[in-house]
Amino acid sequence: MQQILDQINKISKNLVQSHDVPYIESMFEKISTGKMLRSKLILSIASPSEEVLKLCAIIELIQSASLLHDDVIDESKLRRNAPSINALFDNKASIMLGDVLYSSAFYELTFLSLEVAKSVSRSVTALSAGEILDVELGKSLNSNLETYLKMIELKSASLIAASSESAALLAGLDHKAYYEYGLNLGIAFQIIDDILDITQDEATLGKPSMNDFAQGKTTLPYIYFYHESKENAKLLESLFGKKLDGLQKEALKNSLEESLLKAKKLALEYAKKASDLALKLGNQKLDSIVKAMIERDF
Ligand code: FPP
Ligand code: MG
Repeated sequence: MQQILDQINKISKNLVQSHDVPYIESMFEKISTGKMLRSKLILSIASPSEEVLKLCAIIELIQSASLLHDDVIDESKLRRNAPSINALFDNKASIMLGDVLYSSAFYELTFLSLEVAKSVSRSVTALSAGEILDVELGKSLNSNLETYLKMIELKSASLIAASSESAALLAGLDHKAYYEYGLNLGIAFQIIDDILDITQDEATLGKPSMNDFAQGKTTLPYIYFYHESKENAKLLESLFGKKLDGLQKEALKNSLEESLLKAKKLALEYAKKASDLALKLGNQKLDSIVKAMIERDF
């Protein structure tokens, strides 16, 4: 598998290099590769033809572009255990490099089928809308579960669903069922991500821990906690928008214990829907992806 992932990274690199602007290449080299979950997902559905590897590179470029922009929006200095591009260079560089990556991805998309192009481009609109909703929700304390779920579906699950659907389209499989699988996997993935933000430390996450609430993001554990009692709601409102010290963070983390379990339960419900679909589609690898995603530490 690692060999194929290396090949995908090489394709991405060549696409970025094709413009022959050394400064772009030197910045691109500083982006550390992540888990490449979306590529692994695609490769679990379609065999690694030239087209399929290109699809993987396109999706990884879009994912990296969205994180380059997201780190500027979130003012994050750490990404995948390394300084973010906005920290190493500056915000302007990060935004412009993001533009290069996602427009290169869209250009390459024109070489794949119209259906794949539609699926991927629709998901990029969705993830951009999700990011806008996420930022908007962070301006005041959001305690609405439905809005949170809508936001994570747009921001995270849409690209995972499009990756799964596009792989199925290239492999001539039932793309709607694979889209549904990806959507449920993606929602579970983001809930787990939001849980790990609270339970894991910075070294494990490769990015700051307890960062969501600091940015005004009341993710699922906070929403459950808020609705448990009037005292809890008051506590969250009193802490909202404040810079918490280490002790305050620890205390908040401890009080979230039950809500974290409840959030995990909802993640597991989405994960089960994805697993059931994987098994119905006769794809054991997709079931293993769900299990690994749930059990991960970062
Ligand atoms: C991470 O969320 C961000 C996303 C999943 C999507 C970001 C999307 C955009 C910025 C839209 C622009 C799109 C393109 C293609 C240029 P997070 O902040 O919750 O996760 P984190 O803790 O890993 O930063
Ligand atoms: Mg972020």
